[in-house]
Amino acid sequence: MKQYQIVVVVGSLRKDSFNRKLANAIVRLAPPDFSFKQVQIGDLPLYNQDDDSNQAESVKRLKREITASHGLLFVTAEYNRSIPGVLKNAIDHASRPYGQSAWAGKPAGVIGISVGAIGTAVAQQHLRNVLAYLDVPTLGQPEAFIQVKDGLFDEAGNIGVDSKKFLQKWMDQYVAWVKKHVA
Ligand SMILES: Cc1cc2nc3c(=O)[nH]c(=O)nc-3n(C[C@H](O)[C@H](O)[C@H](O)COP(=O)(O)O)c2cc1C
Repeated sequence: MKQYQIVVVVGSLRKDSFNRKLANAIVRLAPPDFSFKQVQIGDLPLYNQDDDSNQAESVKRLKREITASHGLLFVTAEYNRSIPGVLKNAIDHASRPYGQSAWAGKPAGVIGISVGAIGTAVAQQHLRNVLAYLDVPTLGQPEAFIQVKDGLFDEAGNIGVDSKKFLQKWMDQYVAWVKKHVA
């Protein structure tokens, strides 16, 4: 059975990040032919175009991980109605040097959770805009704008009963999206 390796990029460095919890929980809804790896973005330097010809080892590592993957899963926080700088920093790093982007063609899912009522909707739209430019096909439906609430996660860190049906559907559609794009 073909195995699909997915790179998970969490758009928050916070120790108790809700988005990391969501990333950990949602991957448990995937079938056994999918495996997921959260990549580290907190140790990347601030992007500087002067370094394009001599990328840091952490940048090379990130690019290797993306290149080796079949697909991408972005789970992002919303900061000031956009994506957190740490996420944009990682995206910029792996998009360079010009013509050597690691992102191009990798099918992606975009999801996020915030304390606000519209649950990262604006950040996700900004992220989709960036990914479109990078030639990353993103799953359009269902959209998942999740607000922090009691019971979203159970005590074991799984998706709670109230949200499970919806997020299972999201994962099923994501799996189909990746398979559609990977030969
Ligand atoms: C700098 C900053 C800006 C924020 N801006 C937004 C925002 O625009 N929309 C929103 O829903 N929440 C916003 N929040 C609150 C986040 O939803 C909340 O901090 C959340 O826990 C971040 O995700 P995380 O738990 O994965 O780190 C902001 C938080 C910070 C620190």
